[in-house]
Amino acid sequence: MLTTEKNTADQIKEKYFQKFGNADGTDKPRIFRSPGRINLIGEHTDYNNGFVLPASVDKAVYFVISPREDNQVILHAADLDETYTFTLDDLSKPEQSWALYQIGVIEQIQKMGHVIGGFQTTFGGDVPVGAGMSSSAALECCLLFGLSEMFDLKLDKFTIVKMGQKVENEYVGVQSGIMDQFASVFGKEESVIRLDCRSLEYEYFPFLMKDYLLVLCDTSVKHSLASSEYNTRRLECEKGVSILQKYHPEIKSLRDASPELVAQHQDELGDVVYRRCKYMTEEILRVQEACDFLVQGDMENFGKEMYATHNGLQHEYEVSCDELDFLVEQTLDNSNVLGARMMGGGFGGCTINLVKIDAVEDFEKSMKTAYKEQFNIDLPCYRVKITGGTEELK
Ligand code: GLA
Repeated sequence: MLTTEKNTADQIKEKYFQKFGNADGTDKPRIFRSPGRINLIGEHTDYNNGFVLPASVDKAVYFVISPREDNQVILHAADLDETYTFTLDDLSKPEQSWALYQIGVIEQIQKMGHVIGGFQTTFGGDVPVGAGMSSSAALECCLLFGLSEMFDLKLDKFTIVKMGQKVENEYVGVQSGIMDQFASVFGKEESVIRLDCRSLEYEYFPFLMKDYLLVLCDTSVKHSLASSEYNTRRLECEKGVSILQKYHPEIKSLRDASPELVAQHQDELGDVVYRRCKYMTEEILRVQEACDFLVQGDMENFGKEMYATHNGLQHEYEVSCDELDFLVEQTLDNSNVLGARMMGGGFGGCTINLVKIDAVEDFEKSMKTAYKEQFNIDLPCYRVKITGGTEELK
């Protein structure tokens, strides 16, 4: 674990004791960590049964937890210094939106027939919220893992991943795929994971930041369209599948279709659904090509695939925004940048940039200046370190 992460965990533990006290020294809370994620390529492919290439990073969510004798749950948000208390027999939706995820987690645990007792927790971390690094998945997986350990629920990794996704789908109301939770739980140091979202088979590929660094540029905006448009994209893809299925009953998802097939049915699909399906079938192929380049160490071509992804997300899938497009455009004439694209669900958040290691400082400087001039917003840049997945800190 990195020193900065240790500091964050210690700070949250301190806040736990400030909040709950420990006069007699008997409270020995346990600490759990779940990281945010990046995704190198394969965007919006997860809910179309395609491939993704994420990794977990050195920005994480931490829960400091102790069991209670009663059936109360006391959630204390360290960053906001706000508390929300409820009992395990009343999981109605909270007014504080931040508590939605934790209550959703408990609901999933109960739905599976598991029994837990009351607990108190202080949680927080350093995954920027709304930056497309999946702070919510990290939160869900951290609490699921923590409660499984504390109450001996014996949830395996895949179960935690799927339950986390269901929190989003059934409680929060975003029809998101499986990538974020998977990356947070299965992350491995200095490795990216190629996940086949249809079979859930996965493979680790080493990603050593020796010659290149991955740098995230955070637009610091999150347009309100994000979750409604996300669900709309999912429906548009499903519509595409139902049209293609009429002619090819074996097609169960866009993973089973090809760009050529999509082109054959362009008229019937109609402009919008056609462009969604075109992007999606191309992107699914692109992840596989990109993985081959990665294995061959051909980062130039890997970077080109990243640009191609952005182009598709901007013009065909239409989940980008002016701020993201501007940041990607800024890199086009910079020979030290091999690839850049928007990352995650879209409509704000970060771009991910593959940058020659010696040029990172200049890159960040010029990006910050350009962004400030254009939007009058300071641009945070994060140099990515790939760490392991969900764990207990001993
Ligand atoms: C969000 C969702 C993921 C995935 C990405 C886009 O992060 O939670 O499931 O669909 O968007 O790739």
